[in-house]
Amino acid sequence: IDQSKIRNFCIVAHIDHGKSTLADRLIERTGVLTQREMSAQVLDNMDIERERGITIKSQAVRMVYKAQDGEEYIFNMIDTPGHVDFGYEVSRSLAACDGAVLVVDATQGVEAQTLANVYLALDHNLDVFPVINKIDLPSAQPQEVKDEVEDIIGIEAQDAPLISAKNGIGIDEVLEAVVHKIPAPTGDPSAPLKSLIFDSVYDPYRGVIVFVRIKDGVLKKGMKVKFMQTGAESEVVEVGYFGPGQFIPCEELSAGMVGYFTASIKNIQDTRVGDTVTSSDTPCAEALPGYKQVMPMVYCGIYPADSARYPELRDALEKLQLNDASLFYEPETSQALGFGFRCGFLGLLHLEVIQERLEREYDLDLVTTAPSVVYKIYKTDGTSFDLTNPSNLPDPSEIDHMEEPIVNGEIMVTTDYIGPIMQLCQERRGRYLSTDYVEQTRAILKYELPLNEIIYDFFDALKSRSRGYASFDYEIKGYETSSLVKLDILINKETVDALSFIVHKDGAYERGRKMCEKLKEEIPRHLFEIPIQAAVGGKVIARETVKAMRKDVLAKCYGGDISRKRKLLEKQKEGKKKMRQIGSVEIPQNAFLSVLKLD
Ligand code: GTP
Repeated sequence: IDQSKIRNFCIVAHIDHGKSTLADRLIERTGVLTQREMSAQVLDNMDIERERGITIKSQAVRMVYKAQDGEEYIFNMIDTPGHVDFGYEVSRSLAACDGAVLVVDATQGVEAQTLANVYLALDHNLDVFPVINKIDLPSAQPQEVKDEVEDIIGIEAQDAPLISAKNGIGIDEVLEAVVHKIPAPTGDPSAPLKSLIFDSVYDPYRGVIVFVRIKDGVLKKGMKVKFMQTGAESEVVEVGYFGPGQFIPCEELSAGMVGYFTASIKNIQDTRVGDTVTSSDTPCAEALPGYKQVMPMVYCGIYPADSARYPELRDALEKLQLNDASLFYEPETSQALGFGFRCGFLGLLHLEVIQERLEREYDLDLVTTAPSVVYKIYKTDGTSFDLTNPSNLPDPSEIDHMEEPIVNGEIMVTTDYIGPIMQLCQERRGRYLSTDYVEQTRAILKYELPLNEIIYDFFDALKSRSRGYASFDYEIKGYETSSLVKLDILINKETVDALSFIVHKDGAYERGRKMCEKLKEEIPRHLFEIPIQAAVGGKVIARETVKAMRKDVLAKCYGGDISRKRKLLEKQKEGKKKMRQIGSVEIPQNAFLSVLKLD
């Protein structure tokens, strides 16, 4: 294939501006699929994505487009996620592209992640062109949004296609713009193979399927390839490209192309996203830059509800990590929960998504403990370490001081809501930096905020206090000394290690009180009274009590129908499975996560 007829691009946008919808329209219009074959959204093929309406894993699709100049072009479109937690995924997709389509909602304009994603794309030297979406809506302001794109982002926008991805308006214009505004790949097909792994998935039948962008040379079946970072070598079994939701084998992939290969890869750890694949016989001189390794920022314990399934949980985590290098895990044990894993994530949404994937794709019942950020602990004996599990905090007498991670946060908000948002940031121990007006009605508020104040429910709080008119983006600034204490929860006088929590000294009482109240709601009545206490350094600061009661599920159906009785008992048994025995008390799994959503 002629390189000048290839276009490798991605679509970037703020969440909900219509990226996935546009991607579907492009696929539909280029005729890879008939309308009937399109499921609701072909690109978001994981159930969770469809339900939550968000794009998690980057996906790639090849399309053939017959342009107005009469030529046929090959488009490789790589889908990217829009949520701040997944910036890492965005970044690796971008490295496989030559250009980006920026989708901006005509009713919302430029938002926090519009900017963040555009800057990422520009960092990767991609050519970016904007399209203005949702012009079918009565509140659309296409001209204002064009001006905004030019003012705030600084890219040409007057001839941006005005489209409705939903109603299929302006799609041809977008396809033509891809041909004319995104550069063809450059790269030498006769040079030694040099290709970038931008993703991979595990398939039970074919093993690891590696997604690559060929920078130089040719990748063929039967060839021996080498993974430059890990040094592993293997023989290529199949090469091919991406149909919508399927893999289509082909003879070879040459410079400029995007596709996949399978090989006799034994150890799934050998294929690392960001690694360079070259030919074993004639290797290229040096590897591609790869990706910045990102550090997990949020940790929590994940335990199988049924301890016999620990090995299955380990296998599942190993497979998920294969195409999600930002997921970290290591074995740990908890007094309350037995054997499990301490897992690290980029943020809370990432955590929730992994948890759901484990439960659905691997059919595991899980207990997740309270997430925690990473604290730095400096001990009086001069040593220091990173604390990822609050229950490992040494005795306060051994601690010299503690540090917590701080972020630089940017909140874009309409001026009507500046007051409530500032108040929210204040409550979350934010340090005010500045207000920049981007236009009369909108401003960017800058705050320094402790990461542990924003990982749980900050997004929700932001949305509810601004009626959805605020968007948020952050990056880690560094660590700062802080007065932190460990809050322990005692249920029936026993400390539940999985519920221990690090909080700022001033917030300990409030948090302890709310956690007790929440647990009281979550823990069902038992035959005996159950005290729930919150304590700091052995001193109880809050208490609630679950009153004793005999819960007789059969009491309601006097006499009569035996099958109904049986059904009720079955239901009760089902419910039991979701319980955790702590001493003599049964705690529903939900309790462990619900204590985080206290606002
Ligand atoms: P993520 O994948 O989660 O980052 O979001 P996204 O940017 O892909 O947004 P998505 O395509 O899922 O669209 C978000 C919502 O906007 C959906 O409810 C779409 O139906 C709607 N939407 C997308 N395009 C249009 C449009 O042109 N007009 C209108 N009215 N709604 C649209």
